[in-house]
Amino acid sequence: MEIIIQPDVEAASRLAARFVARLIRDKSRAVLGFATGQTPLPLYEELCRMHREEKLDFDRITSFNLDEYVGLDPAHPGSYRTYMWTHLFGRINIDPGRVHIPDGLAPDIPLYCEKYEDEIRAAGGIDLQVLGIGTDGHIGFNEPSSSLVSRTRIKTLTVETRRDNARLFGGEKKVPHHVITMGLGTIMECRTCLLLAFGARKAEAVAQTVEGPVSAMVPASILQLHGRTIVIIDEEASSRLRRSEYYRYVYEHKPDWQKV
Ligand code: PGA
Repeated sequence: MEIIIQPDVEAASRLAARFVARLIRDKSRAVLGFATGQTPLPLYEELCRMHREEKLDFDRITSFNLDEYVGLDPAHPGSYRTYMWTHLFGRINIDPGRVHIPDGLAPDIPLYCEKYEDEIRAAGGIDLQVLGIGTDGHIGFNEPSSSLVSRTRIKTLTVETRRDNARLFGGEKKVPHHVITMGLGTIMECRTCLLLAFGARKAEAVAQTVEGPVSAMVPASILQLHGRTIVIIDEEASSRLRRSEYYRYVYEHKPDWQKV
């Protein structure tokens, strides 16, 4: 893993946006994996700015989202479809025909999940997957005890995650119990993973992910076995890392050709 500690959320998000933009400029038909939640909002804001001011062109990219709530009207303010179109897709020149967000209303969920996997494969696989992390160590909605080789499927959210996500539902009780999420095995096939985590409340999950044992109890720790994972965090999220000085040292001494 490459661990990059930035002074604050803004600097971290600008750096993450440079990674995404570089890929799009290098490969106009890039396949991007997107995440939702509070964490990537400043990244999406910066990508919108780059589209507006620097002509970053999303016209030929394909996108796949990590997850969606089951049984939720796609027009609900808490749906990830609403989130993506509000914060990113509605503000850039992406082709709606190349956008993929799991359909939480699919009548046959197992069949639908297989189809989602097929679509990822047919697109050539995901070049870069943006990831947030839950306070319980989840990525996508792969909650603790998720199989480390899982594929896209239905999952039941933990009480902690439903509480964390209650904001847009007008209370914890209204947060759906079930979601469709890419599996850990699906995420592990992405060519590059870009994990973002900000704030002190993520510090323990980050420490366990980066420095703890690989364990289904901390699903994000599977990324230790991924060949190219970049973890971009702010100072607060780095506060429980034992080797943070080393990670800073590595970043400061990167050869020029490796810098973004
Ligand atoms: P957050 O969620 O970005 O809203 O903290 C992250 C996650 O649950 O993956």
